[in-house]
Amino acid sequence: MQTIHTIHELRSAVKQAKIDQPGIRIGFVPTMGFLHKGHASLLEAARTQCDLVILSIFVNPLQFGPNEDFERYPRNEEGDLAVAKAAGTDIVFLPSVEEMYPQQTRTIVSVSQVTERLCGASRPGHFDGVATIVSKLFNIVQPDAAYFGLKDAQQIAVITQMVNDLNMPVEIIPCPILRESDGLAMSSRNVYLQPDERKQALVLSASLQMAEGLIREQHTNIDLTMLNEKITRSIQQAPLAVIDYVEILAYPSLETISSLKNVEQIIIALAVKFGKTRLIDNIIIRLV
Ligand code: PAJ
Repeated sequence: MQTIHTIHELRSAVKQAKIDQPGIRIGFVPTMGFLHKGHASLLEAARTQCDLVILSIFVNPLQFGPNEDFERYPRNEEGDLAVAKAAGTDIVFLPSVEEMYPQQTRTIVSVSQVTERLCGASRPGHFDGVATIVSKLFNIVQPDAAYFGLKDAQQIAVITQMVNDLNMPVEIIPCPILRESDGLAMSSRNVYLQPDERKQALVLSASLQMAEGLIREQHTNIDLTMLNEKITRSIQQAPLAVIDYVEILAYPSLETISSLKNVEQIIIALAVKFGKTRLIDNIIIRLV
């Protein structure tokens, strides 16, 4: 496994690989590090489908708001390299902030509509930061396929829209959410949780499961306002939970819906704060 810190070196390594193995398929997994099994599952998917697997680790300042956790975002380079190696990664790209943003960025990639709700509404500018860094990374790595987790389902909708709108020659591959054995969606931010917050955080996956059960029972007759209230009340049973949003939308369009009739697929998406830690989770349900 090769570890690379500069754009120049990364481009040379990719160029060389293309000369050595003409027609190779390059798989790319962009991350912000502090890797867990969720990240590893993306690398493993890339490993089975591609000839060269490239992982990037970069905590992107552009996607954090002024009062968010950029400074304290967890970092562990040594641990990350071990996870990357075990998952069969060929190249790890670890650029510095100066390498990625040597000057004030005057070009921002901004995707409209799919960014309006959910985390786009709660975290202004967040998806501009994501779309911009992912565009830069795609231009540097030039992958054939890029792997993203459905844990961040809105991020996948945004990146897919961007790639289609701008004709980027990258296939976006969505991968399932990996969970702890008790149901909590794996996240680098889970390390922030105090023991009592960690216990109560189970209310997210439990509420999503409860909601899925109700939809399976009542099908398209279900009243979505009532369903939203039930999910909200279920989350509020955890005394430390402070709800940011509970939303039921069409997926991947992320358009609002008033019933499930004539809707192919929905997402139930949650963002809930426990102390200083904001957790997100979701479930995507196919209806037809
Ligand atoms: P990060 O939060 O590090 O996540 C990197 C990738 O891992 C994302 O595609 C995310 O959806 C996926 N992932 C995280 N937890 C997961 C889980 N429990 N199961 C499956 N996949 C999971 O998302 C970002 O970084 C950044 O926004 C980035 C795309 C790198 C741009 O900076």
